[in-house]
Amino acid sequence: MAKRDFISITDLRKPEILGIFKQAKVFKKKPFSKRDALASKSIALVFQKPSNRTRVSFEVGIFDLGGHATYLGPEELKLGVRESVKDAAKVLSRYLDGIVARTFSHEDMLLMAKFSTIPIINGLSDLLHPCQGLSDLFTIDEKFGKSDIKISFVGDGNNVLHSLLLGCSVLGRDIHVATPAGQGPNAEVLEKAKSEAAKSGSKIELTNDPVECVKGADVVYTDVWVSMGQEREKQKRLSAFSGFQVNKELLSHAKKNVLVMHCLPAHRGEEITDAVLDGKNSIVYDQAENRLHVQKAILLKLLGG
Ligand code: CP
Ligand code: NVA
Repeated sequence: MAKRDFISITDLRKPEILGIFKQAKVFKKKPFSKRDALASKSIALVFQKPSNRTRVSFEVGIFDLGGHATYLGPEELKLGVRESVKDAAKVLSRYLDGIVARTFSHEDMLLMAKFSTIPIINGLSDLLHPCQGLSDLFTIDEKFGKSDIKISFVGDGNNVLHSLLLGCSVLGRDIHVATPAGQGPNAEVLEKAKSEAAKSGSKIELTNDPVECVKGADVVYTDVWVSMGQEREKQKRLSAFSGFQVNKELLSHAKKNVLVMHCLPAHRGEEITDAVLDGKNSIVYDQAENRLHVQKAILLKLLGG
């Protein structure tokens, strides 16, 4: 059977995503209900960038499923520096059963997938963060239990937004996005999301006005303005995003019970205030927890059995 990668949410069809959500719900109630699913399997986490949530939730998830996790951080492998991505992918395929990869460039993620003979799970690239997007949509479903809600994203047209856009479009959920001019989503990702939305019947609304975007919103989502790898652009980016902070004033335009989401880590005081992140409408820690349950369901689908 051909190996299956998870590089983008669009690698999964809607019924498969719903199946993952169903399984994640079971894992949330019964963490050890598939104790042997990854028995005798070794999975490496090949990370070019730091991580808390993705690394730890995958390591714990692999343990819960009876598998073995090996972490290969930026210093161990020096992917693309000490050896080519191609050589690393080919060699690791001889030892392992699967790889969760976190790369700077999405090109490297695609090369990993191309040259490995084992499943590659995208644990974040500069373009996409599909595990995040999938578990965020699981969290939204868990909180609302219905699909006719207003989901608004305010901030940078980055990897997190891209996966949320694609996920909403595949699942048929409307999404409203506010970014500063020139900081919108990647054109190819947007095209793909639009074509998925046309099939599922959902809408994508883009604006440069954060107030307009969050008006009547049930969910307001934001992410950092300076992603990993963009540190040198910090000053330029901070001024480009001024006016896009998720704070109490902005949220006063959303529904009273709006839920606030952030993938974390947050740059407190930049894209979001302490008062909002720590406030009663914030669900960021539930969101972080769900990474574990959803990723276990992804592992089970790709590598279990
Ligand atoms: N949200 C997320 O992916 O966090 P980490 O960078 O800590 O893994
Ligand atoms: N956009 C952020 C997400 C971190 C989980 C980054 O790429 O750094």
